[in-house]
Amino acid sequence: MSLAIGVDIGGTKIAGALVRDGEILQRARVETPAEDVGAIVEAVTTVIQDLQGKAGGEDVVGAGIACAGLVDAAGETILFAPNLAWRDEPLKAKVAAQVDLPIRLENDANAAAWGEFRHGAARDHDDMTLITVGTGIGGGIVNDGTLLRGAAGVGAEIGHMRVVRDGLRCGCGNRGCWEQYGSGSALVREARDLIRSGTPHAARLSGACGGDPDALEGADVTKVAEEGDPAAAELIHELGVWIGEGAASLAAILDPAAIVIGGGVSAAGDLLLEPARRAFHRNLTGRGYRPWPEMVMASLGNDAGVIGAASIMLDERPTS
Ligand code: BGC
Ligand code: NA
Ligand code: ZN
Repeated sequence: MSLAIGVDIGGTKIAGALVRDGEILQRARVETPAEDVGAIVEAVTTVIQDLQGKAGGEDVVGAGIACAGLVDAAGETILFAPNLAWRDEPLKAKVAAQVDLPIRLENDANAAAWGEFRHGAARDHDDMTLITVGTGIGGGIVNDGTLLRGAAGVGAEIGHMRVVRDGLRCGCGNRGCWEQYGSGSALVREARDLIRSGTPHAARLSGACGGDPDALEGADVTKVAEEGDPAAAELIHELGVWIGEGAASLAAILDPAAIVIGGGVSAAGDLLLEPARRAFHRNLTGRGYRPWPEMVMASLGNDAGVIGAASIMLDERPTS
């Protein structure tokens, strides 16, 4: 069975894996250089070459690279990223100039969806929607066994579905996008805001960041909530409600058999999933007269992106 490389360009690290049939055989990772494209190309190249070296002479079909932004249909260019500096960036050509392998760019959430569909939580379903909840909200939609890409390749940008008229400004320039309310960034923003309000309810959250709200991270909120702090649990509950309501809107259009929640915030587990499920059930159109799509946590964790990016390479075969 063939081998492929998957690479996931994250905010803090660039993770890579050598993958066969959904199994990670080898890993490589480097820190993400701060927003300089040249440095990122070099870092991605290092990861790919490292993994090629670890393939033990076996043929590698290609490398799929998962990127947090809008990727063109050819898998060559990052057209735009709402939360990063990518603008019309021909990343494929730049990496392909350095390594002797077919390269394909993929939207990060599409890659994760493909990973969960082929090898993870949704492997028993032909129709699934993945919602990744991290800095933004990413989407990956598998319809009848095929990844939905749209006409230009930039479909499934579910994080930019408007949920509030005249709402908060989004990194994409619009107002009221779902990711301004249902993402990990939204959770952190709300938690910091609560601390700054000076309310005694936020004492444990404040303690978790040494009294400096700017130092608070999403993982701190989850940790304090798991320790039983009602304020932190309430923030995660609220986040779950936003996610569940948005998921109901998506299900009205897509009718998936499974909705899979992934991304960093999924570490909150049932504290997030239970309110999300309830909000989903309260808002699903046709409820009571249609099967409930199942809502579950992703099962590949942080590996969904690399496994998915490699698996797309193996399943779709490189074009060049
Ligand atoms: C971007 C998507 C990306 C998602 C998760 C969103 O803001 O528009 O392209 O998949 O964040 O990284
Ligand atoms: Na997507
Ligand atoms: Zn937006």
